[in-house]
Amino acid sequence: MTGKRKRGGGLGLLHHAKTITGNNGGGLRTGKSLKPQQTRQIIRRFHQLQKNKHAILTRLRQFYDISGCKYEVIKQDKLYRESFNSFKIPAKYCDNEIYKIDSTLSRSDLVEILAKIDSEIEQRGGIEKYQTASAQGQTSKRGGDSSKKLIEWLRTEKYAFKIGNDVTALEIGCLSPRNAISTSGIFTSVIKIDLNSQDPLILQQDFMKRPLPKNKTEKFNLISCSLVLNFVPSHEERGKMLKRITKFLKEPKDDNSIMSSLFLVLPLPCVSNSRYFDNTQLLKIMESIGFEQTFYHEAKKVAYWLFDWNGKLKRARFSKRELHSRSNGNNFCITI
Ligand SMILES: C[S@@+](CC[C@H](N)C(=O)[O-])C[C@H]1O[C@@H](n2cnc3c(N)ncnc32)[C@H](O)[C@@H]1O
Repeated sequence: MTGKRKRGGGLGLLHHAKTITGNNGGGLRTGKSLKPQQTRQIIRRFHQLQKNKHAILTRLRQFYDISGCKYEVIKQDKLYRESFNSFKIPAKYCDNEIYKIDSTLSRSDLVEILAKIDSEIEQRGGIEKYQTASAQGQTSKRGGDSSKKLIEWLRTEKYAFKIGNDVTALEIGCLSPRNAISTSGIFTSVIKIDLNSQDPLILQQDFMKRPLPKNKTEKFNLISCSLVLNFVPSHEERGKMLKRITKFLKEPKDDNSIMSSLFLVLPLPCVSNSRYFDNTQLLKIMESIGFEQTFYHEAKKVAYWLFDWNGKLKRARFSKRELHSRSNGNNFCITI
């Protein structure tokens, strides 16, 4: 495999992706303060590359035995290292182009594309750059910290009686230890975790690998999952994350006196412009794992939900099927 193939041919390169926002990207630049359009481009490109990477790793499993398919093992592959080191992001490169991963690709094709994706992510500044872009989107000038909406809801009568002396929270995908969840004074403790911590007050941890609570004191009254599910690369894993969240929530009481809630935020197009998903489907999935919506708010670009957990999990299955035939729709989906 030479790796010298024309763009648009060989190696599944490259075709235009339908992004969640439906916009095309331009070039990315580095720099401390990013313009809103640049932050959106960085976030979008990062999500595309992550999705591609996940598809490649899934396909690669068929070529390796389980132990050989470990990512760390693939990264030692000579072809991987050569492709990683030689890849340069083309000067004229549309950020909306993605690799086409299909069954025609051989093992070496897949390893080569994986190396190019990893190289592109590194050249673009890695997950840190993505997080900077996300954090800048959180500044008050840019519409701000999504957890303000949560605090506004928790201060309503509906929740006032559930806020006692010992109310705890877990924030999955935390970029700032100074956001409204942490500064509201509502919670006695807020455990903040992220795949890539940007602050000593944020624990570096993959929620999917966080040890399950051993007793009720290790469970939380509130879990925040804001703009995280759309970061998770596959619809199956998004469903798994939602189910896993239930294992970390305090047991609800019949009189509803205990807070056991989930704050969820998604980019609006996930529910407004997907071929495979919408708000009705989300609510069906949530209901099947015991969540009842208490608040919903649709902003221009983002949708917010607050759910109470009733502890009742049903044996329901939700697969990926077309719900809306939208030629410009995105492919966001959650399955269980
Ligand atoms: C777009 S940022 C959202 C940040 C913030 N919650 C907000 O609402 O703006 C997504 C963050 O989720 C984190 N993340 C994604 N999957 C995660 C996981 N499995 N465990 C912990 N953090 C995760 C990423 O590292 C990233 O920093």
